[in-house]
Amino acid sequence: MSTITGAPYAGATLTVDLGAIRTNYRLLRSRLGATACAAVVKADAYGLGAAAVAPALAAEGCRTFFVAHLDEALALRPLLPEVEIFVLNGLAAGAEPECAPHQVTPVLNSLAQVDAWAALGRRLGRAVPAALQVDSGMSRLGLGEAELDKLAASPERLDGIQLRLVMSHLACAERQDHPMNREQLRRFGAARARLPKAPASLANSSGIFLDPDFHFDLARPGAALYGLAPVAGAASPMRPVVRLKGRIVQVREVAAGAAVGYGASWRTTGPRRIATVAVGYADGYLRSLGNRGTAFAGDAPVPLVGIVSMDTATFDVTDAPQAVEGGFLELIGPKNPVDALAAEAGTIGYEILTAIGDRYARTYADAAQIERLTA
Ligand SMILES: Cc1ncc(COP(=O)(O)O)c(C=O)c1O
Repeated sequence: MSTITGAPYAGATLTVDLGAIRTNYRLLRSRLGATACAAVVKADAYGLGAAAVAPALAAEGCRTFFVAHLDEALALRPLLPEVEIFVLNGLAAGAEPECAPHQVTPVLNSLAQVDAWAALGRRLGRAVPAALQVDSGMSRLGLGEAELDKLAASPERLDGIQLRLVMSHLACAERQDHPMNREQLRRFGAARARLPKAPASLANSSGIFLDPDFHFDLARPGAALYGLAPVAGAASPMRPVVRLKGRIVQVREVAAGAAVGYGASWRTTGPRRIATVAVGYADGYLRSLGNRGTAFAGDAPVPLVGIVSMDTATFDVTDAPQAVEGGFLELIGPKNPVDALAAEAGTIGYEILTAIGDRYARTYADAAQIERLTA
C-alpha cells in the first residue's frame, strides 16, 4: 500500500485495488490466446493514477501502453523505460523532435502526419516507428478512404517509417450483436490489404469479448482493466477496482415538510435523518446524481436526496441508524459498482472514473490489503 495523499480528516477515501487491475489484465489476456494485450492508460489511467497503475500492469507483463497525448507519454516514459508507448491522438504539428528521443510512438491519423513522420525518419537516416490508424467507420481519427487511396497510390510516402501497427477503433463493440462490428471488421480488412504488411490492432475491452476474428495481433483494453463491464446487459467478469467512501460530516434530524439542498428539489414527507457527506461535484461526484443516486451505510442502501452541491451531497439515512457523524457512506464499492452509479447518473462508467477529483485521500492496495483496510 502506498498513500499518495493521506489525511485523517479527508472528506473521502478512494482505494484503487492494483491487485484487481492485475487480475483483470490476466483475465483479458487469457481470452486473447496468442494475441498480445496492451493497456490504455490515457487520462491518468482513467482517473485512477497512471503512475501507480502502469507499473502494476508492467509487472504483470504488459509491454505496450497507449495514451492520448504526447505529454502523457513523456510523463510515463521515466517510469517505464522499456515499454512501447503509443500516442493515440496523433502527431501534433512540429512535435516530431520530442517523440523520437523519448521513444514515443505516434499513431499517425492523417497523410500530413505520415509525411511529417517519414520526413523525420529520412532526416535521421533510420526508420522511425509509428502506428497508422485507419477510419473503419467511426469518423473520428485515422485515414479515410480518400487518404488511403492516395497512400496506396504512393506507398513510398511510408519510406522512413517503421510500421509497428495498423489499427482502427470499434464504435459499438459493447453491443455484441451490433451490425457495425462486422462492418468495421470488413472495412479494416480491406484497408489492411492496401497497406504494407504490419501487425494489426482493432479490439478495445469490449472487442476482446467479440469473436477472435476481432483480436488480430494486439488488443487495447482500458475500461475493463479498471473494472468496467465490457458487455452491455451481461454480468461483468471483471473485478471491481475502485472503492470510494465519503465521510459523514453532519447528521441532522429534519422535520416533515423541510426542503433539502439547492433549489429545494426534495422535501421530507415525514421526520427524516439526513446525512451530509463531504463529496460533491467538484470531486467528480456528478450533479446529475441529484435525487437519483444511491450509497450504502453498511449493507443498507441510502438514497441521495436533493441536488449534489460542489463539496457535499445529502442522503436520507432514516433507515440506517449505523450512519453517524464521522462515519462513512460507501459511494462506490462492491455493493455499488461504478457501472451502477453511472446508470443512476445517466452516463457511462468511463465518465465516472475520469471525473474522479484529486481531493480524496487515495490509497493503492491489492485485494488482501483492501479487506483489512475496509474491515
Ligand atoms: C483508440 C482507442 N483504443 C482503445 C481504447 C480503450 O477502450 P476501452 O476503454 O473501451 O477498452 C480507447 C478508449 O477510448 C481508444 O480511444
